[in-house]
Amino acid sequence: MTLLEIKKLSVTFGGVRALDNVDLELEAGTLTGLIGPNGAGKTTFIDAVTGMVESRGQVLFGGADISHDAPHQRAAKGLLRTFQTLELFEDLTVEQNLLAAAEQTGWWQFISDAVRRGGPTPANTVVNQSLELVGLSDERRRLPAELSHGQRRLVGLARALAAGPKLLLLDEPAAGLDSNESLILGQQIRAIAETGVTVLLVDHDMSLMLDVCEVITVLDFGKIIACGSPQQIQDDPAVVAAYLGKVAQQP
Ligand SMILES: Nc1ncnc2c1ncn2[C@@H]1O[C@H](COP(=O)(O)OP(=O)(O)OP(=O)(O)O)[C@@H](O)[C@H]1O
Ligand SMILES: [Mg+2]
Repeated sequence: MTLLEIKKLSVTFGGVRALDNVDLELEAGTLTGLIGPNGAGKTTFIDAVTGMVESRGQVLFGGADISHDAPHQRAAKGLLRTFQTLELFEDLTVEQNLLAAAEQTGWWQFISDAVRRGGPTPANTVVNQSLELVGLSDERRRLPAELSHGQRRLVGLARALAAGPKLLLLDEPAAGLDSNESLILGQQIRAIAETGVTVLLVDHDMSLMLDVCEVITVLDFGKIIACGSPQQIQDDPAVVAAYLGKVAQQP
């Protein structure tokens, strides 16, 4: 089943065509990568799909046209993102950051009463599950400032999880992580996908991308130049010329 269908999505900033007639389909339950050079349009794509930037074209989510929905309406339908620059509520604990996100969409209100009886509230249950999925249960009462950079990024991820995603768009979650932290993050993103959440992952960490993604789409100057398995992408001369050759040359 197709969860997200993008048709001719275009975004223009002044004279810059940040996205140029992009067509993309995401199958439900898949983990897809989106790569490309700096300025290729990856963040703009996430902004456009979540309604945070004005765009032309169509966004279909679960078959319904959401092109004119506001960001909060898309979020309530299960379309959630993380940000390239992490923004946490610094005066709230980790747990409170997640509760705020859960309460914003209120999706857990539909969880059956069986979960509710005697135990924690549904919102607390999803917060607990989200913290567990990213391995932060022990840090729940800490403030973000007390955590490492890697842990803070995981709080961002857990916060998106607590909001009840059907589709999770992750913008450079591995930025600033060392290779070991990035490996753990990869396992956690996979675990999230295994719970049935469809994931679109944007990152420049190629070992992470090649390791966790089932399919990779490549953007260059706002256009899709390739789409295929990690192996096909690695072997594609156009991708090597536009991006992978340059990544390999980086120190
Ligand atoms: N708010 C904005 N105003 C003007 N131009 C913008 C704006 N946001 C992005 N752009 C331009 O749109 C293009 C796409 O930028 P975008 O941030 O989507 O790239 P990216 O693929 O996410 O890059 P990176 O890998 O560096 O994060 C770039 O040319 C960028 O300069
Ligand atoms: Mg970006």
